[in-house]
Amino acid sequence: MAVVEASNAAIGAAADALRGGKLVAFPTETVYGLGADATNALAVAAIFAAKGRPRFNPLIVHVPDVAAAAKLGHLTDLGRRLAAAFWPGALSLVLAKRPDCRVADLATAGLGTIAVRVPSHGISQALLRAVDRPIAAPSANLSGHVSPTTAAHVEADLGSRVAMILDGGATAVGLESTVVDVTGDEPVILRLGGVTREHIARVLGRAIAIAEGDPHKPASPGMLARHYAPAATLRLGAREVRKGEALLAFGSAAPEHAGPMINLSATGDLTEAAANLFSALRALDASGASTIAVMPIPEEGLGEAINDRLRRAARTP
Ligand code: TXA
Ligand code: MG
Repeated sequence: MAVVEASNAAIGAAADALRGGKLVAFPTETVYGLGADATNALAVAAIFAAKGRPRFNPLIVHVPDVAAAAKLGHLTDLGRRLAAAFWPGALSLVLAKRPDCRVADLATAGLGTIAVRVPSHGISQALLRAVDRPIAAPSANLSGHVSPTTAAHVEADLGSRVAMILDGGATAVGLESTVVDVTGDEPVILRLGGVTREHIARVLGRAIAIAEGDPHKPASPGMLARHYAPAATLRLGAREVRKGEALLAFGSAAPEHAGPMINLSATGDLTEAAANLFSALRALDASGASTIAVMPIPEEGLGEAINDRLRRAARTP
């Protein structure tokens, strides 16, 4: 069985596997990551093969602290301010890659930039320190699927493709990290995520733009139009449920429904809703309903990232 309780011994074994070029899935506070030694091109290639991921889509490289991040990319003043405010945590910074950066070109899809993150989860931190190498880790799902927030989700998608899945329970944030490009004069959000746009704006003392999605040349391939997709069709903004539909509810005014139903947060709490989102989509998808009716979610705070994921999941291919 690939899933193991993340004891100290298991973390040590996982670090050995990573140093040996193998793939290890591990929990972060956002979602589970599919890790490989970022300096080993063959190991990185195995990530793309396991996920069925397009090679033009670069990976986020994980390190235990700011000092390690600064060895991979140029931390501008802007980058340092955001790192000080949000690391360790649910933020990835896109930096200009340093010429002496040892990360394989495949991990950065041959770009001159590199996305770096310092996760806060105790198991990610322990693993990164034990490996003592930068770890490339996309979300540990098949390309295009909903990101995994439990070890069981990882096993369902990638169980046969990984040396080990470290089980640290359900992830707390439940949405991927917010990706911010700090290579220019103005920071730009490339992907909404666990850190809200409002929070970043407050730290910087000014508004921050979200990259315009050009479907032909996405600034960040995470902005690809259809992504995070369940097999079922999603009907967004639903205020009533139709016959045969499953219901993804939000708040206290959920309609009566005899069929499959999950309420993301009965109290209307967006943090709770974010943590439950991907599990709920997987569960309702597994119920076999061909359509999932999704109640409106307020477009504020984490609601922005939740609605971003729902809109992408709702697009037809
Ligand atoms: O929370 C997360 O970010 C999780 C955990 C495991 O850390 N990781 C994750 O990775 O979501 P992934 O590969 O599923 O998404 C990475 C996103 C993609 O949208 C990718 O296009 C973008 O980051 N990205 C990576 N490197 C980039 C770069 N150099 N420039 C622009 N976007 C980049
Ligand atoms: Mg992903």
